[in-house]
Amino acid sequence: MNLSDLQSSLALVIQNASSAFETARNEAELNQIKGAFVGKTGPLADAMKGMGQVPPAERAAFGQVVNDARQQIDALLEGQRERLRFAARQARLDAVRRDLSLPPRGPIVGAQHPLSRVEDDMLRVFEELGYAAAGGPQVETDFHNFEALNFPPDHPARDMQDTFMVGGGRLLRTHTSPVQIRTLLAYKPPVRIAAPGPVYRCDTPDMTHSPNFRQVEGLVIDRNVTMVHLKGTLREFASRLFGRELNVRFRPSFFPFTEPSVEVDVECPFCTTGCRTCKGSRWIEILGAGMVDPAVIEAVGLNPDEWQGFAFGIGVERVAMLRYGVDDIRLFYENDVRFLAQFPA
Ligand code: FA5
Repeated sequence: MNLSDLQSSLALVIQNASSAFETARNEAELNQIKGAFVGKTGPLADAMKGMGQVPPAERAAFGQVVNDARQQIDALLEGQRERLRFAARQARLDAVRRDLSLPPRGPIVGAQHPLSRVEDDMLRVFEELGYAAAGGPQVETDFHNFEALNFPPDHPARDMQDTFMVGGGRLLRTHTSPVQIRTLLAYKPPVRIAAPGPVYRCDTPDMTHSPNFRQVEGLVIDRNVTMVHLKGTLREFASRLFGRELNVRFRPSFFPFTEPSVEVDVECPFCTTGCRTCKGSRWIEILGAGMVDPAVIEAVGLNPDEWQGFAFGIGVERVAMLRYGVDDIRLFYENDVRFLAQFPA
């Protein structure tokens, strides 16, 4: 066969391939048809086999013609394959019923948990007031959690905070107040710290109590510190955090490590006459505080005639409840996205 015969016979093959490919209804059929043109027994393979009879000088030109034909057939094949895929995708989409009246689904965006947001904001306020951040371990010694805080062994005040013991004389801290002791043992006064973290108590869960909640501890030790500084600080904290003046009340209380001691309540935002959250009292307790007892100052080796101070422990969950109008503390821990989605970033 001479070169021009080869060209015209391959042109015919290409034409036939094109028509044959178009008859394929899916990719499987196309693959089958393809074998007849580019397979080992197809016309292209035959042309290559005949190369032996072609004079050597013409072989390159023969090879080129066969290759060109092969490339054209491949291009036809790919074009048809693409068309079949597109049609299959279209058929799949057409089979799905679409309801154009549905509202579009927006992107799902995560946000900081309301408890950590409130805690960050509380710490920011204390930072503005000149407090340094501090911390301590969650597994504590009896010395730091109780003894140095003026809770003698067997003192009934220990029952105020039912304790989870973890063995080896260690316990899960019942409050953040042991950070007071750790700070005063490590640093010389004056000190002014805010220490956040989790605390643990065998409390029965209810609308305002959890066995594992968070506190932010505050401690100021300096010369000539008085109760007026404590009250001013807590009022300033509340108004900066809530962004407005709030009705705050100081109630006399008792803690072994402060004298005098107070508890601070904020007016219940959920009712005007008493409700389940405030247990009918119209007030929600958010923190305990007081002037550091001289016995604590002595326990850390300082002279109480020279150094005085105040301390406070704020319940983060209680503040979050007030801020966001959440009337049940347990909602914060369930992590139901329908609840959390109400606190966008
Ligand atoms: C204390 O824990 C003291 N350490 C606070 C303190 C620090 C007093 C420094 C004086 C000086 P109290 O047990 O009252 O005190 O807890 C403090 C705050 O933690 C409470 O006002 C309340 O807001 C929160 N709180 C207490 N128990 C729970 C609980 N079970 N669930 C959630 N929040 C709680």
